[in-house]
Amino acid sequence: MSTAVITPLVEARDIVKRYGPTTALADGRLTVLPGESHALVGRNGAGKSTLVNILTGLQATDEGEVRFDGEPAPPLADRDAWRRKVACVYQKPTVVPELTVAENLFINRQPVQRGFISWRRLRTEAAELLATWDVHVDPEARTADLKVEDRQMVEIARALSFGARFIILDEPTAQLDNREIERLFTRMRALQDSGVTFLFISHHLQEVYEVCQTVTVLRDARWITTAPVAELPRRALVEAMAGESLEAIAEQAVDPRDVDHDAPVLLEARGLTSPSYEDIDLTVRRGEVVGLAGISGSGKVQLAESFAGLHTPTSGTARLGGERLPFGDVQAALEAGVACVPRDRHDQGLVAGMTIGDNATMSVLDRLGRFGFVGTERKRGFAQALIERLDIHTEGPEQPVSDLSGGNAQKVVMARALASDPRLLVLINPTAGVDVKSKESLLARMDSAREDGTSVLVVSDELDDLRRCDRVLVLFHGRVVAEHPAGWHDHELIASIEGVDRNG
Ligand SMILES: Nc1ncnc2c1ncn2[C@@H]1O[C@H](COP(=O)(O)OP(=O)(O)OP(=O)(O)O)[C@@H](O)[C@H]1O
Ligand SMILES: [Mg+2]
Repeated sequence: MSTAVITPLVEARDIVKRYGPTTALADGRLTVLPGESHALVGRNGAGKSTLVNILTGLQATDEGEVRFDGEPAPPLADRDAWRRKVACVYQKPTVVPELTVAENLFINRQPVQRGFISWRRLRTEAAELLATWDVHVDPEARTADLKVEDRQMVEIARALSFGARFIILDEPTAQLDNREIERLFTRMRALQDSGVTFLFISHHLQEVYEVCQTVTVLRDARWITTAPVAELPRRALVEAMAGESLEAIAEQAVDPRDVDHDAPVLLEARGLTSPSYEDIDLTVRRGEVVGLAGISGSGKVQLAESFAGLHTPTSGTARLGGERLPFGDVQAALEAGVACVPRDRHDQGLVAGMTIGDNATMSVLDRLGRFGFVGTERKRGFAQALIERLDIHTEGPEQPVSDLSGGNAQKVVMARALASDPRLLVLINPTAGVDVKSKESLLARMDSAREDGTSVLVVSDELDDLRRCDRVLVLFHGRVVAEHPAGWHDHELIASIEGVDRNG
């Protein structure tokens, strides 16, 4: 065996990064070898995305250095040089939705012939580029119309066309269903075989084992360990992330209580139909937690959104506590007692310019202010309590939400939904982007809400979220095709979601 030392493709050493009073990285380290898929894991706010910003040259470090292939990283101002080294695919698209795939691939470097952009060459070159990397997407498709997984592949192809062979995926699977995740992994493996190196960030630890060879753990802004995934079993990995034993984590979990089958019906929907679903009848009892499962395009998200005023049925009715629930109006739904954790927390969830405290209490200002104006102290105390209950990693209620890490922003959205003391809580992928330990505290919040008599409708792709439900309804092509009372086995639910337990 050769003992020659392999030069790392990427190396970050002694990285320190501060944002005002927050030290986002105190001891950031990373060594990625050429050709591997390397996982970067850690709890919400551990510093993963901060490290990505530094590795892609989007932000300067306060201390430490980054090297590519043994050479110092380019100066920050030289964006082209960085693009030839590395690219990151985020959850939020960095492509322009109104442009076609071809245009996005060659934006700002269109093939020019005699001073004019040659559209024909643009299309051919785009088609060639996509074919080279085996990406089956129509170059003429409008990017906005692409599925998330195809959009991600277009972004990867674009990065490769700049010459980068190091691709960072920051939570690429958070918005994908099981099949889409499998397809992404197949494509990652194929690209890895063609010499592409990946840094892969995910809160789904089983994915780390499925697709990566090495894992680096960050905790509280510090490097904790780097090891082959085969030498770090799940238990050790979770303990490295959390800094405490699994037993200690388990002790903090709350046992869900039993359902009251005689509780009065709170939500009753009849014959709900829209382009996304058909003829849905649904009842949810007071204090009941009902899960909605299904592949992408099953209509589960639109159905749940309908009750929160985010999607409008074309026919059918819904009653909440006997009163007709208005459709198509978020404010009216909120007034009727429906709170929602929406799918897209960036666009629908938070007001970026406002503080965490203001965002969390926005929907309750009325209530807090019932006897006069809202006392700042009162609001602050209320927000502080929510921050503690949901384990939000922040400097305090006065910090703007735009400073928060992805998972912590998600918790603020949940805090806000709970703060309005809803009769019906609609949760869409509530734990997407939330770390393993915080998931527990978020789901425990769901349990305590139901104890106060709140009914919950949860849409999720995660079995752990659905396991907490009293029953799970499975949608397929817009229809409810199965109902599973609590206690189902994973394989049963998966089979029914995938439609493999049905004929035809
Ligand atoms: N622009 C900013 N201004 C102030 N603080 C910031 C900023 N960006 C990040 N932080 C803080 O730095 C810390 C690390 O955030 P980072 O986004 O790197 O976490 P993460 O590991 O990616 O978490 P998640 O899993 O939730 O995405 C957090 O405490 C966060 O609030
Ligand atoms: Mg992040």
